[in-house]
Amino acid sequence: MINGVCRFHEQDKDVRKEFYTRDLMNKKVAYYSDYHLHRNPSASWNDSLVCVMAPDPPKPEELPAICRDIVMEYSEKAKALAITLLELLSEALGLKPTHLKEMDCVENLLLFCHYYPPCPEPELTIGAANHTDGGFVTILLQDQIGGLQVLHENQWIDVSPVHGALIINVGDFLQLATNDKFISVQHRVLAKHQGPRISVACIFKAPSQTAEGTPRVYAPIKELLSDEKPPIYREITFADYLAYRLENGLDGHSPLLRHRVC
Ligand code: OGA
Ligand code: NI
Repeated sequence: MINGVCRFHEQDKDVRKEFYTRDLMNKKVAYYSDYHLHRNPSASWNDSLVCVMAPDPPKPEELPAICRDIVMEYSEKAKALAITLLELLSEALGLKPTHLKEMDCVENLLLFCHYYPPCPEPELTIGAANHTDGGFVTILLQDQIGGLQVLHENQWIDVSPVHGALIINVGDFLQLATNDKFISVQHRVLAKHQGPRISVACIFKAPSQTAEGTPRVYAPIKELLSDEKPPIYREITFADYLAYRLENGLDGHSPLLRHRVC
């Protein structure tokens, strides 16, 4: 998968530019640089190919030929892994194993294929600005270059690459659903002299709509609430969440804060 992503980003720019768009809302395959440009204090030193792989994947011929097969295969495997993860997380919460899956936590898959070029002056910019992920869980694959950091007790900690390992992030919607039992992790990527750095983030996002086409509402899971543990968040729709996130860019402030009851 890392090789496939590298091949895409290093092919001739005339081929790449066929996929260029900043309309991430309506396109199933999009190639762009720094989506939050003008909203963040600094530009992000990376290019991304994003593919909407579920529930309604692009036709194979809509995917870039140079990484088509591996993107389809990898997405299937990521989805199978996500189902296992959500079963384990459901059990950890004391719920039945299928609880999170039945909330459709793995129905929508966004596959972000990032390429961080070598940066001549890394101290002047950032690879990816501080943010939390906007789905339930993220499965992240990184190469051996490094640069990813998580915020832990107010300190940035390196997430050193481990060959063959995947990184799992809790996203904002799992924090909301679990009423803060699982916390969505703040993370960023430093720019580096070394590169390119390749990473692939499979973000399992909340469905925007119900089967009937009405906005789908998310709230803390009832089984996790009690008199001692009242809901921390009010109900939100994915559209509410996204609007706030897009307006504010990646500023390190969780978009969930606005939905807190207390
Ligand atoms: C992301 C992300 C980190 C990385 O895509 O949300 O945090 O290592 N990526 O590229
Ligand atoms: Ni992220």
